[in-house]
Formats: sequence, structure tokens, C-alpha cells
Amino acid sequence: MRRKSKDMANPTKIPFLDLVTPHQELQEELLAVVKKVFSNAGFIGGPMVEEFEREFAAFSGAKYCVGVNSGTDALRFAFMAAGVQPGDVIITVPHTFIATTEAISQAGAHIAFVDIHEQTYTMDPEKLREYLETRCEFNSRTGETIERGSKRRVVGIVPVHLYGQTADMDPILELAEKHNLFVIEDACQAHGAQYFSKKDNAWKLAGSMGKAAAFSFYPGKNLGACGEAGAATTNDSAMAARMKMIRDHGQAKKYYHDIEGYNGRLDSIQAGWLSVKLKHLAKWNEARRTHAHRYHELLSEAKGSIVVPVEAPWTKGVYHLYVVRVQDREAFQGALAEAGIGTGIHYPIPLHLQKAYENLNYKKGDFPVTERVAPEIVSLPMFPQLSESQRSEVANKVLEFCASKVSTPNS
Ligand SMILES: Cc1ncc(COP(=O)(O)O)c(C=O)c1O
Repeated sequence: MRRKSKDMANPTKIPFLDLVTPHQELQEELLAVVKKVFSNAGFIGGPMVEEFEREFAAFSGAKYCVGVNSGTDALRFAFMAAGVQPGDVIITVPHTFIATTEAISQAGAHIAFVDIHEQTYTMDPEKLREYLETRCEFNSRTGETIERGSKRRVVGIVPVHLYGQTADMDPILELAEKHNLFVIEDACQAHGAQYFSKKDNAWKLAGSMGKAAAFSFYPGKNLGACGEAGAATTNDSAMAARMKMIRDHGQAKKYYHDIEGYNGRLDSIQAGWLSVKLKHLAKWNEARRTHAHRYHELLSEAKGSIVVPVEAPWTKGVYHLYVVRVQDREAFQGALAEAGIGTGIHYPIPLHLQKAYENLNYKKGDFPVTERVAPEIVSLPMFPQLSESQRSEVANKVLEFCASKVSTPNS
């Protein structure tokens, strides 16, 4: 699935994601990080981690950044630091990677889903409102929101900035405030994405809007480590201190454990590599936006038989993925694969219908938008180093496929 090199042209071989080229381009700087760490043997924590944390906090418009070993842990530690108790309910969407909900369960909480918006693929604030107003009641005496049927305490909301576009945060934050809930952003796919807050009349960065936010540096992400890594950002110093403690066996001082924590620290080699790559992230995100806008233009010819991503006026997306909707997805992917073009599906089975969540007792039909999009979505090749000719070739193949079809998706 990977291009051998930018110059070894087989123009028909277009991977879904090219992880080789950027690492070859930065090889010297990346290897210098390894040499530096080998010379001081500071493998865990230390100045390189602290430096990256400062840099990434600034990049995300947040006061604090806590480096951890995955996006999943960043979410889990944020929930724990926010004070989640066993059996509490955290609300999220069924159209996300399972890590979002794994972290909820692993923090001891119960998962509640609300559907996504059909155009943005992110949490629909109206569905959130409906859930809070019809399925829950707010006790003004205790300040708690209680789920009517289960009597569980609802404590938080996790909007997922999926595919690199932020969720519509103003109404979500307003509902959270009204119902006394925390908001933890799942920004694992949205490093550098922006949201225009009408309320504050200002653009805001993913990772700066909630009580905390989680980022993944899994290699394929917009900012990827050379292995596993993640970070939580926050503007709340107590949250930052708590998350630091949780990532390091519950200790703020060596061998003085205030709570039981985890081994969830960020390696200094990964932090050093991330610092090297962070310098290029704004440029890489801009390249992704250019590819996306060009794909939009090229694919507009196929209007009616393909649904391209919609960038809502309140978001500047960073196109972690470029996701289209087609009918007959299998044939579509087959036609592209035959032409040497890689594609992906993010994600084929909604979480509420996964075997792992049978115990939640959701059923088919509970989240119609998610269920409608899941069988139709396909991710096209998207990475900063995608060339103009590769982009055109992908678009031409998509147009060719669409022209061969008479039916249209039911969007
Ligand atoms: C939306 C979302 N949430 C959470 C995660 C978890 O991140 P990690 O793989 O670093 O644990 C990912 C990563 O794939 C993701 O895409």
C-alpha cells in the first residue's frame, strides 16, 4: 500500500497513505534525535518531552499539554482526571474509531450514543439536545444530570473531530454548560483544525475548547510519531497536573503514589521526533487542504453519483481523511484497486452494532444517519506529498466509475 519513493514513478501506483516519503525527507533530523538520546540515555520523560509538550500546547492554542503513549490513553486519563466515577455516563457518537468508547469504558463509565450530522459526520448538536432533554433530567438541587431510565449520572460529552473537521462546538458547549457536563474533545484526527465560534466571534483550535482534548500521534495521523504516542491538552492546570500523575503511576513525586495510575508516559525519542515533524505540520495541513479543494473541484463533475465532504462554514478542516460517499462501494474500491489506487473505510460498522457493544442493547435503526453513511463511505488517497498528477488520476478514475453507473446515492 506504500509508494516506493516520490521519484520512482509508477504513476498508476497511488497509495492510500504514504508514510515513507516524509520520513525519508526528514531522515537526518530524525536520526539526530536518536543520537542525542543515545548520548544521554534519557529515554523516558525529561527535557525533550517537556519541550514537545510546550510546542504542542502552543500549536493547539492550549495552556498545557501532557504527553502520553497513545490517543486512547489521552482520552482515558482525561476522563479520569475529570473525576469520572464507575457507572457515570459519557455521551459520544457511534461513528468513530472504537478507541473513543474503549477509553470511556476503561475509565469505568457507561457509553451513551447520539447520532451524527449527515453533512459533517460529527456529533449533531440537535441529537445531543434531544437526548439531554428527553432522556435525562437535570436536578437543580444537586446540579446533576440523571438518565431517566437507568438513573445513571451523566457527566460528560465527547465530540469527535472526525476526518480532521471539528464538531460544531458552540451548541455542544452551551448544552454542556446548561447540564453541568464536561466536554472532552476527541481531536485524535484533527491536529490544527479550526472552529469559528460565533459566540466568541473567534477562530479556535481543536484541543483548546473543551475541559481537555486528546490527540493521537499514531504514525498515520497528520502529526504521527514513529511508533505509538499521544497527548492531552487542557487550559486547566489542575487537570494537567492530574493527568501527569495518572500517566506516571499516580505519583507527582517519585515513589509517593497519591492514587493508582498507569504506565502511560511518552518516550523522549518519540517526543524528539514529534518536535521535528511539528515544524512541518502547518505546511502539511495546508497541502492536505489544497488536495481536498482540488478533489472537490475535480469531482464536482460527478455530482449526483458521489457525495464529497462538506466543509461547514464554521470549520477549517485539516483533512486527515478525504471521505466520499458512493453506492456500490465494493465495486468502487475494486475499480480503484485495479487501477493501483488505494482506498480505506473509516468506519464500516457503526459502534452501536459492533459485537463488543451487544451489552449496550442498541439495535439497528437507533442511529439512522450513522447507519446510512457507514455502508457508503470511502476514503480516497490523502497525504501531504500527494502529487498533482496522482490527485488527477484518482479523480479521473472516480469520475470514470461514476459515469459507468446510473444509480445515485440516497443522500
Ligand atoms: C477518532 C480517534 N480516537 C481515538 C484514537 C486513538 O488513538 P491511538 O491509536 O493513538 O490510541 C484514534 C486513533 O486511531 C482515532 O482516530
